Amino acid sequence: MRRLTVRSAGGSYPVVIGPGAIDVLPRILARGPRPSGLFLVTDSRVARHHAGRLAGRVGQNGLRLARVVLPPGERSKSVRQLERLWRALVREGADRGSCLLAFGGGVVGDLAGFAAASILRGVDFIQVPTTLLAMVDASVGGKTGINLPEGKNLVGAFHQPRAVIMDLEFLETLPAREARAGLAEVLKTAAIRDAALLRRLEREREALLRLEAAALEDVVARCVAIKAGVVAADERESGLRRILNFGHTLAHAIEAAQGYGGLLHGEAVAVGMAFALCLGRRIGITSPSLAERLTALIAAFGLPIGLRGGAVSRILTAMSRDKKRGAGGLRWVLLERAGRAVVVDDVDPQTVQQELKSFLGGRS
Ligand SMILES: NC(=O)c1ccc[n+]([C@@H]2O[C@H](COP(=O)([O-])OP(=O)(O)OC[C@H]3O[C@@H](n4cnc5c(N)ncnc54)[C@H](O)[C@@H]3O)[C@@H](O)[C@H]2O)c1
Ligand SMILES: [Zn+2]
Repeated sequence: MRRLTVRSAGGSYPVVIGPGAIDVLPRILARGPRPSGLFLVTDSRVARHHAGRLAGRVGQNGLRLARVVLPPGERSKSVRQLERLWRALVREGADRGSCLLAFGGGVVGDLAGFAAASILRGVDFIQVPTTLLAMVDASVGGKTGINLPEGKNLVGAFHQPRAVIMDLEFLETLPAREARAGLAEVLKTAAIRDAALLRRLEREREALLRLEAAALEDVVARCVAIKAGVVAADERESGLRRILNFGHTLAHAIEAAQGYGGLLHGEAVAVGMAFALCLGRRIGITSPSLAERLTALIAAFGLPIGLRGGAVSRILTAMSRDKKRGAGGLRWVLLERAGRAVVVDDVDPQTVQQELKSFLGGRS
């Protein structure tokens, strides 16, 4: 079992990683202020597979546990489901001493985290991620929120969890497609910050695709350490934290343009990284050999590196609403070297449009 600490302005919190990590939940709940009640927020798929195991751990503290179950999938990160959750919490007797348990993938984590940030002006929450993507990325760092039809993650808040518990045993039921989507964020983390991790991903690809615990535990811990370091340096994203958006400028636009029912988030990030590599090469920041090496690696992980029949105009509209804009226009995270990203504010919009057209047309 590994333990890491994430530093934030509001205090530090522990991240526990390993098979069986959920066993620490009773101890985490016993430490610090005793919650007046616990509210398990999950989706129906996660509930079916794993809610019994979680409820058993909570029972040890004699705390009352209410449960709110959401439909699975990205479309649940919506105003509608948020309203449902807020109202269910109030009906179930939530008060300022309540603690939410966000038990699921990034969708549950982002939505439950935002409900925790906003209900009664803020209550505690604990992240118990059950997807690889949520472990290596979404559950750490305190970004919470929902999507609007107009754009991804447009409503949200920074709200740090009280703890994050990553029990790798939950991944045993994760579908292969979701595992690959999680590996896309692992590739992102390595690409922007850790050339050694990138080489390791090249070497251990097969074991990682099989979600083998030994390979996975190291890689998850490394990704969490990297994210924790970036977030501690720039909690509210005024500088360094922006590099975590490598691949996300296009990814978010694709997700919105597809009505959040097309590619998975991790798959959209894979396409977005492939595009950022093309754009970086076009403007001379990324070497052709690095762009080729990484694009091949993304594909070797079974992830998409292009988009057939992409609706360029809808994607461009969605991109124009991206909240991560600099004064001069869209902000692009590009790769200078393996393990080193740069944020570029002044890419000529014409160049982006031309490159995007050729990329979506499959010629890039
Ligand atoms: N807050 C952040 O910093 C941050 C960072 C990265 C991504 N995100 C967000 O995370 C979301 C994507 O998260 P995700 O990929 O985890 O998607 P998700 O939460 O939709 O989960 C993917 C699917 O896997 C199922 N599932 C979850 N755990 C399972 C398990 N153990 N066994 C079987 N099935 C399981 C879920 O029911 C769902 O159908 C996106 O909305 C993205 O924007 C947020
Ligand atoms: Zn992401």
